[in-house]
Amino acid sequence: MVQVYGPSVKGSMMKPISLFAKHLASPSPICELMQDLADAHGSANGQVLLGGGNPAHICQVERAIQDAVQGLANDPVALARAIGDYDGPGGNQEFIEVLCDYLVSRYKWPIGPQNIALTNGSQNAFFALTNLFSGRMSDGSFKRILLPICPEYVGYADAAIDPQVFYGIPAKIELIGDQQFKYHPDLDLLYACPDIGAVCISRPSNPSGNLISDQHLEYIWQFACQAGVPLILDCAYGQPFPGIVYAQANAFWRPNTILCLSLSKLGLPGLRTGIVIAEPQIIRAITSINAAMGLAPGGLGPAIMTRLIRSGAIDGLCHDVIRPFYLRRIQMAVELITGLLADLPVRFHRPEGAFFLWLWLQGLQIDNIQVYRRLKAEGVIVVPGSYFFFGLQRPWQHADRCIRVSLTASDQALIAGLRRLCAVIRALYQ
Ligand SMILES: Cc1ncc(COP(=O)(O)O)c(C=O)c1O
Repeated sequence: MVQVYGPSVKGSMMKPISLFAKHLASPSPICELMQDLADAHGSANGQVLLGGGNPAHICQVERAIQDAVQGLANDPVALARAIGDYDGPGGNQEFIEVLCDYLVSRYKWPIGPQNIALTNGSQNAFFALTNLFSGRMSDGSFKRILLPICPEYVGYADAAIDPQVFYGIPAKIELIGDQQFKYHPDLDLLYACPDIGAVCISRPSNPSGNLISDQHLEYIWQFACQAGVPLILDCAYGQPFPGIVYAQANAFWRPNTILCLSLSKLGLPGLRTGIVIAEPQIIRAITSINAAMGLAPGGLGPAIMTRLIRSGAIDGLCHDVIRPFYLRRIQMAVELITGLLADLPVRFHRPEGAFFLWLWLQGLQIDNIQVYRRLKAEGVIVVPGSYFFFGLQRPWQHADRCIRVSLTASDQALIAGLRRLCAVIRALYQ
C-alpha cells in the first residue's frame, strides 16, 4: 500500500485512544452483521441468507420506485435539484412539507414542518438521539436509555459513545399454546431504572416482531412524561409506512414523543433516508448534528418519496403489496416450523409485525452463538439472539437461547433454508 501520510499521522492512531474510538471504532455486532450481509450478497457458495435486515425485493414495489425514478429523470430541473444541490441540514424542505401534510391529514397529529428533520438513515438518528439523551451530562450526572422490553434492536447498542447507558428490562414472557410465546413489558420494573435520559422502544420490534399494545404504549408514554424524558418510538417497520404490522395498533405521535421513521424497509435502504418527528428543539438539535456529521441529508430518497406520496401510490404499496407480501412469508415460515419442529421444545414469538421469526430454543444444551456457527457451517446464516439483549442488569438464560431468522430471501431459498435450519436444530437437540 502507498504510504500517503507521514509518521506524525501514523503516530496519532496510537495510544491513548479516545473514548469515541474505543467504543465506535472497534468491531461491533452491527458492523459484523452488515459485513456478513454484504459478503453473502457477493458470494456464490450456496449459503442461504436468513440473517440481515435487508427488505425483500418485491416486484411491484420496485416497479413503483422505477416509475418515480423515471418521473424524476424526465424532469431535469427536479433531478438537478435532487442530486446537484445540498439540502439544508434538516433535510429537503419540499419533502418535509409534503410529508407533514400527509401525516396531518391522515392522523390529525399536531405537527408542522418545524417538527420534522431528515437524517442519513434512521441509524444516524439513533446515534444522535442516544448521545443527546444519555451518557455523561454537563452537570456531571450520568443518564441512561431505558429499554422497556429487552430484547431490543441491536443497532441502538452500537450507537452510544458509552455503551453502559442502556438499561434493559427483561420482557415478561407469555406462553401461547405449545409452540408460541409473546413478550410484554414488565411495567413495574420501569421504576427501577435510575437516572433515565430517554425511553426507547421499537414498534414492531426488531428482533422479535412483537408489537407493543396501544394501552402499554400509552402507559409508557405517560411514564416518560412524568419522568420528564422523551419517548423514542422507532417505527422503522411500522406505521405510517411501510406498515408491516399484523396485529391491531394505532400510529402514535404526541408531544414528548420522538418518532423515528425510515424509507429502508419500504425497499429503499440504499438511499439512507431517516425521518425524525419531534418537538422543535429536538429537531433543531438533530439539524445541528446533521450539519456536523454530514453537512446535509441526501436528496434522492426525499425526491422519490415526495413523488410516491403526491401520486397517492404509497398507501396502496404499503397496504396492498408490502404487508400482504410479508404476511404470506410469515405464514409460510410458521407452517414449516410448526410442522417440522412440533415434537421439540422450540417456540417462536407470535409474529405481529416486521419480517423476522424469533425462535426460542428452550432447554438446548448449547448457546445461540454455537447454534449460529453450526448453522453457518451448514450454509444457513441467521443472527444470534444474544446480541439483542444488551443493557440487561443480570444474566438471563433466555437471552442465550434465541436466534433471529429473516424472511426476506426468495420463496425457494427461504423454504430450503428453513428446512436446513430445522434439520440442524433437530440434530442439536439429539
Ligand atoms: C428497528 C430498526 N430501527 C432502525 C433501523 C435502521 O434503519 P435505517 O438506518 O436503514 O433507516 C433498523 C434497521 O434494520 C431497524 O431494524
